[in-house]
Amino acid sequence: MRVGVRRVGDPGGSAEAPFSRVYMNGRLVPAVEARVSVFDRGFLFGDGVYEVVHAFGGRWLDMNLHVGRLRKSLVAVGIDPAMADELPRAARMLVGDTPLDASIYLQVTRGAGSDRTHLPQAGLVPTVFATLSQTESLAALRSTAAPPSIRAVTAPDSRWLRLEIKSISLMGALLPLMDAQRHGAGEVIFTRDGFVAEGGSSNIFAVIGGELVTPPLGGPPMLHGCLRTRLLSVAIANGIPVSVRSVPTAELKRATTILSTGSRSLIRVVASLDGEPVGVGAPGCAGGTSIVSTLWTGLLDAIEEDARRIGHSS
Ligand code: PDD
Repeated sequence: MRVGVRRVGDPGGSAEAPFSRVYMNGRLVPAVEARVSVFDRGFLFGDGVYEVVHAFGGRWLDMNLHVGRLRKSLVAVGIDPAMADELPRAARMLVGDTPLDASIYLQVTRGAGSDRTHLPQAGLVPTVFATLSQTESLAALRSTAAPPSIRAVTAPDSRWLRLEIKSISLMGALLPLMDAQRHGAGEVIFTRDGFVAEGGSSNIFAVIGGELVTPPLGGPPMLHGCLRTRLLSVAIANGIPVSVRSVPTAELKRATTILSTGSRSLIRVVASLDGEPVGVGAPGCAGGTSIVSTLWTGLLDAIEEDARRIGHSS
């Protein structure tokens, strides 16, 4: 399989190299030269797991959380957990000493057999692929007073139940997302048995009754988001009342503010849900706005503070 040519941030400049090369099984290669077997189980079955980590100025945010989650995903699907070390390795090789603002996508598949068989053949060697995308700098994010806003729609969660595994089989999320897009929305919020689970590629927070609320890990299945963990600690450090509890879908619809969070997008404010503006008529609207700006500034401060403490690409 030929991997498509990536968009390059600065086609003529020296910044080109990191974005035009990909990491393939331990080596950096030009994207156009990267090859994967047609018998790779990632290609045939979506049989693999992935991670996405964000770098600001060449420093990776919460790399240890992402490596830990990748290891758990690998263990859960029976791929060698040592492959988790490929994440910092690929990150180091792709970014080098460049102070890039970028996100890295890394996937590990079970590898390629000699034929298409549902059960994996013995002795497969995992395939590791990683690529960088350019993202906004901390300075650019700081120049915006508030996080970007999106429209969202709710949908019954028809994905599988093992959502703690960051599986590359994303068809169950893609179809509702594409449907949401047809309705002018940028995110879908999955619900199960009347309770909020998570977004199509994010976790969900809401401001309800002056508290920052988010569903617990033991509730409807969802991914243990690294940005979710980070935002909870930012909220607590800034004195925002936090409640990790189940959120009935009907309650979400009455929230003052709804947030969608993820390592790549950081925070997005949900401006409308199922076509209705969020927070209009909800008590304590102004409270919601100030919680969002405290979270936004607190998150950017925490990222900057971390970047000061840790070295490049670590
Ligand atoms: N996705 N829930 C789902 C289903 C996700 O796909 C993601 C992130 C999150 C947030 O996790 P984190 O804070 O660790 O990024 C929650 C990534 C960014 C992606 O698929 O590209």
